[in-house]
Amino acid sequence: MHTTSGTGPLIDVIAGARPNFMKIAPILRALKTRQAAGSPLRVRLVHTGQHYDERMSGDFFRQLGIPDPDVNLEVGSGTQAEQTAAIMVRYEQLLLNARSALCLVVGDVTSTMACAIAAQKLRVPVAHVEGGIRSGDWGMPEEINRLVTDAITDWFFTTSEVANANLRKAGVADERIFFVGNTMIDTLLANRAQFRAPAFWSERGLREGQYFVMTLHRPANVDDSQGFANLLRAVGQAVRGLPVVFPVHPRTAKTLSALPDKPAGLLLVDPQPYLEFNYLVQHARGVITDSGGVTEETTVLGVPCVTLRDTTERPETVTIGTNELIGTDPAALKPALDRLFAGQWKKGGVPDKWDGRTGERIAELLERLLGEGRAPAGSRR
Ligand code: UD1
Repeated sequence: MHTTSGTGPLIDVIAGARPNFMKIAPILRALKTRQAAGSPLRVRLVHTGQHYDERMSGDFFRQLGIPDPDVNLEVGSGTQAEQTAAIMVRYEQLLLNARSALCLVVGDVTSTMACAIAAQKLRVPVAHVEGGIRSGDWGMPEEINRLVTDAITDWFFTTSEVANANLRKAGVADERIFFVGNTMIDTLLANRAQFRAPAFWSERGLREGQYFVMTLHRPANVDDSQGFANLLRAVGQAVRGLPVVFPVHPRTAKTLSALPDKPAGLLLVDPQPYLEFNYLVQHARGVITDSGGVTEETTVLGVPCVTLRDTTERPETVTIGTNELIGTDPAALKPALDRLFAGQWKKGGVPDKWDGRTGERIAELLERLLGEGRAPAGSRR
């Protein structure tokens, strides 16, 4: 970011995997604005390299105006433990060479947890953006990442009252919880006017409200080829002949390529860049997904969303937004989409503070917390 020189407190902003990139963009922008106004805070952008394909990483940096990382740890693929270990070893080395004043992590991916552990063990305080959310499902690697990260986080920047309540229940003092809103929604609102149709939109004759968008990448849905084939068949039977645009995540592509018959009615495309993906979502009849972040975006865009999971760490997308959890049994898809076609889907509203100003709130708090030299939690334990 070219802001690592100077003497003010240095903040490591950590990004590793696709869903991190939309969360860091508004924070970096707000910090830059404060720097221009004289803030002493310095930023070191650290990419762990967990996602490395252009389509999973580079495209997002370019479209969202994120500067090139100051450091790339280039860890690449591996098992959960291999990735965690590689990130910890490399990030620890970075901190030993050039210590920062704060490690700011976002979301719930492996990079989030691994950097938090490496930092806290060296007594570099940790701030967690999107702290406190819980699915209660320990079968999801993300839930383990959330639990571990939050156990050693000093300052929590939260997206919802439910997250605040989860943290209080876990014994976190109020003075460490900052309800700031949702940085992913900052990015959505800031880029909404630039959403654009992908090239295949006209080639494939897609029309507004006349197709579905689907994303699937959770191991529970895509790793078993028989289960995955059943799921795709159920989708085909529930969408009444409308095309289903299916950007295929690399994990999903592996299972898909091994299926003997390719399911009909699916428009298989590469992972889409941000502006194209959200154009597709905004104009879809509905979205079928197992992602968490997508349910937040559909909530704000007011698009019906069917989630193929039993639990969610983002309950406000269901209680307030347009999202509905139908579980992982493919048989539940048809009745849900029948209600959608009958015009019976809820309209939904937008949760508190999902207003496009969260990055600014975080930057202001960081300046205050680091400027005051406020003691991180660990020093009092
Ligand atoms: C990760 C996150 C998940 C997030 C998802 C979004 C964790 C535990 N999970 O899952 O929360 O919703 O990203 O995409 O961190 N691969 C590539 N190119 C890449 C990146 C990955 O081909 O740029 C391949 C890997 O080799 C691997 C698979 O995709 O086989 C999965 O990647 P991985 O980073 O392990 O986790 P995700 O399933 O992407």
